[in-house]
Formats: sequence, C-alpha cells, structure tokens
Amino acid sequence: MSQSKWTAVDDYFCELLQAPDKTLDATLAANSAAGLPAIDVSANQGQLLSMLARMSGARRILEVGTLGGYSTIWLARALSDAGHVVTLELSAKHAEVARKNLENAGVGDRVDVLVGPALETLDALANEAKEASASGHAAGGGAVAPPFDFVFIDADKSNYPGYLQAVLRLSRPGTVIVADNVVRDGEVVNAKSDDPNVIGVRAFSELLAKEPRLIATAVQTVGSKGYDGFAIAIVTQ
Ligand code: SAH
Ligand code: DHB
Ligand code: MG
Repeated sequence: MSQSKWTAVDDYFCELLQAPDKTLDATLAANSAAGLPAIDVSANQGQLLSMLARMSGARRILEVGTLGGYSTIWLARALSDAGHVVTLELSAKHAEVARKNLENAGVGDRVDVLVGPALETLDALANEAKEASASGHAAGGGAVAPPFDFVFIDADKSNYPGYLQAVLRLSRPGTVIVADNVVRDGEVVNAKSDDPNVIGVRAFSELLAKEPRLIATAVQTVGSKGYDGFAIAIVTQ
C-alpha cells in the first residue's frame, strides 16, 4: 500500500460523497498564498469532524490550533444558528488569515479566534467561567462560555497532555473530545522516541487511559494526509 493509493481512495470518496466546495478551495488557496503550512485536516477528515460534532448535538465547540481556519469552517458548519466556535491560535498571522477565511465562508459571526498560547487562553476561559458562576453572570458575554460540547485538539503535540487537562475543566458529562495526529506514521508505539511530538502524544494517550472521567479510543487513518490517526473520548462524569 502506498501514499498514491491512499490519496486516490480519499479522492474517490471525497468526489463521490462531498459536493465541490469553492469556499474550502479558496481557504486552502489563501493559506498557501500566505505561506501557511498545508497541515490542515483533509476534506474527508473535515467532513468526519463536522459529522461527529453534529452527532453530539454540539452548540458550543472549542478548537485548539486554528491555522487558517479550514477545520474551523467544517466545525462551524455543524452548528445550528445558535451555536458558536471558539478557536485558539498562537500565531497572530495565522489568526488573521483564519478570520478572513471564516468571514469569506460566511461563518465569521459564529466563530471567535483567540490569539495566544492555548494553555494560557484555556486557563483564562476556565477562570472566567469560575468567576461568572460565582457572580451568577454568564462568562464571555455568553458566547464563549464553557462547558463546551465538542472539542478538537490540533495544536502543538508536545502540549497535548496539558490541553487535555485544561479541556477537562471546560467539559461536562457528554462532552466529546477529538485529538488529531496521535499516530504520527506509527511512531506512537516507539517508547524510545526523542521526538517531542511523539513524547507528547504518548503522554496524552496515557492520560486518556488514566483519567476516570473518560471513555476513549484511537483510530488509525490513512489518506491524502498520510498515515496518522484520531483519538476520540467522551467525558462521562
Ligand atoms: N486545525 C487546523 C490545523 C492546525 S495546525 C486545520 O486542520 O485546519 C496547528 C496550529 O497550532 C498552527 O497554526 C500553530 O500555529 C498552532 N499552535 C502551535 N502552538 C500553539 C500554542 N501553544 N497555542 C496555540 N496554538 C498553537
Ligand atoms: C503537523 C501538525 C498537524 O496538526 C497535522 O495535522 C500534521 C502535521 C505538524 O506540525 O507537522
Ligand atoms: Mg492536525
């Protein structure tokens, strides 16, 4: 089996099952023109994320790692009019490209792109929620207030364990957590790896196992973006 076959099969199902989408094409073109790396989820994976968010009935979605907003558009499309996405991005440049793409996709009004190191932003969101519940007022004007119904973790892999801990503070029983890139060409099974990305996803996976509030699994994927995988968890209590 080879990359060219994985790509051909992704293309086959994408063309068969997903309507041509000029908005998403324009997003990828804008990312490329701005020099962003092409590390967005694939179209099939975007559709999967969107479907998982719909299945969970999500109205409040949190994303960690925006890039140019490609996955954000897929997540925003899963929402009814009342729903909202909060997406966290370190790079002001990436955030600016994303905001334009989100506007262009017609979902700018239901997405907030928050710039900064995500661990800090997640802390701020948790503290806001705590203060709001103490004062009896909704945090963040209501729109960005936790708990979130659906979370997609896709920023720097070395911080995945910290993201999971922070996200748990912003969750409720029933919250679905999906994390990208947990397989890394199979390197996840290499306990001796010195790659911080691999060390990060291994620590993240061990935390999934240890955390009594979570039911979790991981699915390996191949496709146009190579060999990788998603972890999927549900918060039970
Ligand atoms: N979810 C996007 C891809 C995200 S790529 C998509 O599928 O379309 C990972 C992003 O995480 C990059 O834009 C990178 O700048 C951002 N990132 C890296 N470290 C971060 C941090 N500490 N806090 C927030 N974002 C971070
Ligand atoms: C990288 C990051 C991603 O989120 C991804 O899906 C693929 C690659 C990276 O940082 O190399
Ligand atoms: Mg990713």
